[in-house]
This record gives sequence, C-alpha cells and structure tokens, in this order.
Amino acid sequence: MDVVHDIATLRATLEGQRHVRTGLVPTMGNLHAGHLALVQACRQASDFCMVSIFVNPTQFGPNEDFANYPRTLDDDLRLLEAAGTDLVFNPSVDDMYPGGQDDHVSVTVGSLAHKLCGEARPGHFDGVATVVAKLFNIVAPNEAFFGEKDWQQLTLIRTMARQLDMPLEVTGVPTVREPSGLAMSSRNKYLSDEERERAALINRVLMRIKAAIERGDRAYADAEARGARALTAAGFDVDYVAVRDAVRLVPPDDDTRTLRILAAARLGRARLIDNVGVAI
Ligand code: PAF
Repeated sequence: MDVVHDIATLRATLEGQRHVRTGLVPTMGNLHAGHLALVQACRQASDFCMVSIFVNPTQFGPNEDFANYPRTLDDDLRLLEAAGTDLVFNPSVDDMYPGGQDDHVSVTVGSLAHKLCGEARPGHFDGVATVVAKLFNIVAPNEAFFGEKDWQQLTLIRTMARQLDMPLEVTGVPTVREPSGLAMSSRNKYLSDEERERAALINRVLMRIKAAIERGDRAYADAEARGARALTAAGFDVDYVAVRDAVRLVPPDDDTRTLRILAAARLGRARLIDNVGVAI
C-alpha cells in the first residue's frame, strides 16, 4: 500500500499507472467498521482503491472539535492495509489550502446546505463540498464512496457532482451499526459507556417512526414531535427529528417517492446523527 502526503507526489505516482476503474473513499481518519465497509465497496467496484485521510478544517465551525478531532493515522494505515487499500492520500492543511483557508475558492451548495444539520452548523456543508470537489479534481476517480449515515452530505455531494458535471459516480454505502443499533461514528468516542447505551435510542426512535409510516400513518409532524420528545426525555439535546423527501430533503409532497427519517441530537460531548429510509 502506497502512502502519499502531498498532491505533487500523488500526481507523479498516479501518472505512470493505468487503471480501468479508480475508486475513492474520502475520510477524515479515525477509521471504524463503517469506513471499512466503504473500502470493501470500493474494492469490489474498482481495480484501484484509494482512501484519503484529511481532517478538513473548513467544515468545522469555530466552536467545533477540529483541534480535538481524533487523529489515529498509524492505526488507520494498519486497518487500510489489511482491508486491501492500494493507496492512501494524507495531505497537510497547507497543501490542500495553500495561502490559507480564508482566501480559498469555496463551493457553495445552496439550500441543501442550510437545512437540517446546516442550521446548527453554518458553513459546514460548503466546507465539505469544497474539500470533496478538490479531492475529486486531484484523484479523478471513476467512483467515490460515502456512508449513508451522513445522508445530507451524501445527497449534496450527489447534487454537486451532477450540477457541476463532474464525471464520476457517487455511491452511498449502508450505515454500519453496533449491535445496539447505534450508528458507527468517530464521534461515538466522546460518549461514556452509559451514554453509548443510551445513544442507541436515536435509532429506535427512527425505527418507530418508520414502522408507523409503513402502517400508513402520514401525520409526519406528529411523528417528528413524538420522536423529539422521546429523545429529550432521555436527556438528549435535540437539533431535529425530521421526515423528509429522501432526494430533495424537503417535507414530503406529491413528488415524493422515498422518505428519509433523520435525526440529530447531542448527548454529553457528542453530536450524533442517524437516518433510515422508508418507501411510500
Ligand atoms: O464524512 C466525512 O468524513 C467528511 O465529511 C468527508 C466526506 C471526508 C469530507 O471531509
């Protein structure tokens, strides 16, 4: 497995190589089974599987955990080697944002970036879109893989790729969960043992709403309110529980074919997100 730490070396490394299909798994490191599922999907679909590890400063707000975000490069490289990754790209902030972040060209996503998680995290999704666009330009993959756990992120990256005519496929990979149902996330590290058990309630709340919808209940606002109340009663600080059109992330309307039920809530030091799909 090659490990490359700057853009120029990456380009020089890739130049002499011929691949039928290059896959890219963008990550911020601190890898867990959810990331390894992305690598597995990448390996199955590509003859050359690249993983990027870059804790992207432009997607963190001023009061968020950029400085303390868990950085575990040695462990990550061991996991990626065992998973059969061909190349890891691990650039520095200076290499990705020469001249600093403030003057850097930014990709602005539009309304998709301002709803749901965008309300609590202004600027976050523009930072995600900018770094992902850069990675797409640097690596030029045929396909890129993202976890469905970050449904809003996946949706807006698909939208960006389509609207900016980026010549690649964006593939979502189902969420990997702990046996309790808790979605795997690097931020689960911030939870105490007791909070980790309690955090599984998020998924149970989403599954209850899904079951009600599957039974024919279309009172979405009531279901959202019930879900938020259950989480608040268990000590969560709830950002939202929302039933949305899975593609446009707007409240369901006559054009809606598939729903996504999404939630974001803080528990202790962690901000947790999860979502499930439901066909109507
Ligand atoms: O999902 C993540 O880990 C990040 O948002 C991503 C897509 C790697 C961009 O920094």
